[in-house]
Amino acid sequence: MSMWGGRFEQATAGEFRAFNDSLKFDYVLAPFDIAASKAWVDALAREAMINAEEQATLQAGLDTLLARVEANPKAPLSSSEEDIHSWVETELQEIVGKVARKLHTGRSRNDLVATDLRLWALTQTHVIGEHLLAAMDSLLAFAEQYEHAVMPGYTHLQRAQPVLVSHWALAYVEMLERDLERLTQARERTAQAPLGCGALAGSGVAVDRHQIAQDLGLNGACRNSLDAVSDRDFVIELLSVASLSMVHLSRLSEDLVFYCSGEAGFFLLGDAISSGSSLMPQKKNPDVFELIRGKTGRVAGHLQAMLMTVKGLPLAYNKDMQEDKEGFFDGLAQWQQCLSIIAYALPHLRVDTQAAQAAAELGYSNATDLADYLVGKGVPFRDAHELSGKLVLAALRKGVPLEGLSLNDMREVHDAIAEDVYAALALDAGMSRRAALGGTAPAKVHSALRRARQRAQAH
Ligand code: ARG
Repeated sequence: MSMWGGRFEQATAGEFRAFNDSLKFDYVLAPFDIAASKAWVDALAREAMINAEEQATLQAGLDTLLARVEANPKAPLSSSEEDIHSWVETELQEIVGKVARKLHTGRSRNDLVATDLRLWALTQTHVIGEHLLAAMDSLLAFAEQYEHAVMPGYTHLQRAQPVLVSHWALAYVEMLERDLERLTQARERTAQAPLGCGALAGSGVAVDRHQIAQDLGLNGACRNSLDAVSDRDFVIELLSVASLSMVHLSRLSEDLVFYCSGEAGFFLLGDAISSGSSLMPQKKNPDVFELIRGKTGRVAGHLQAMLMTVKGLPLAYNKDMQEDKEGFFDGLAQWQQCLSIIAYALPHLRVDTQAAQAAAELGYSNATDLADYLVGKGVPFRDAHELSGKLVLAALRKGVPLEGLSLNDMREVHDAIAEDVYAALALDAGMSRRAALGGTAPAKVHSALRRARQRAQAH
């Protein structure tokens, strides 16, 4: 059933329909369009625009339609309707007869589509919130399993200072916690109801919009009709939360690709999450993490696309806004899928604790500890840095680690150096000294881990 045939003398062209119609992707909004319609039926009844019998008939018809959609979510795809809104009306008319023709009284597809999309987005935020928690949980489990394992920490991808594997995992827990916080905040702004704003100027029926918002389980009603029908901030905001979270997953993935590489080699991929090469029999590739890294570009692209779509639009509704859906649907779906595969993959990852420790011991990553040792002997840090650098150079020339230098060699550089320097150069000693808040000292990480667990459980 066309929603706008009256003023037309000729049929619209198939070519135009194929380009214009959105049912092929907006069919996923069906349950939300039905929910919005149910709230609208009650709003019309409250204003005596339909009688109690019509209200009951329409409600029953919408329930029947919802049950059909739940049984077959792809049902609308077999129809030639323009979009999900006309599909719902047409199907309703088929179920309840002509009374369905009253449903669109006082509403527009403009306030309807904005409402549907918000309802869809809210459902997604709850599902994705669960996936974020699951990904966090797998990082926490990994941190607990390898709480005491040591690995090299990097800056510039050069070995810098040793850190605990658990400290590294907790860094990503922090990022995902912030993502969850951002998601929850964006949800508040999304949960506003445009329904009852009409096409742009407000509904011609004096519906109780606060009641509609409440019936839809939303926090409130959008305050301005022009804004309500043309605002897609919530799409942009959620795509931005998704993009940033994907960036976090991408950095995690990049770390893992490197730690599992032949060059670093202190994390080991389980067979269940690896793929091989069709040519090189020895290969075991980290495709899962590379795919996450790759999909990050795709999700961030959807954010850019939406920003560009909205940037030049005059108020109020413009058909450009139909472009708000495919990228949004895909962006949130990719995010959810990546979170879920992270949660799945982490238990299949092992740390070769000996290799990790050996790597942490290489690369003079205790040179800072030597400088700190000299500071402890009263040498100003700037001088201590210089002296420690000289000893690194001496050790490099001999092809030994710092602790491979003899006490005599070291005392040539500064006579405050004594036998206790070897204890200060030990990996554990260095890490234990990083005991200020947020540092990798084992005692600090232990309590950080416990607190992160408690926060996760509180969600
Ligand atoms: N399919 C349209 C969309 O997704 C629904 C709104 C159409 N409104 C209009 N005035 N043409 O944006």
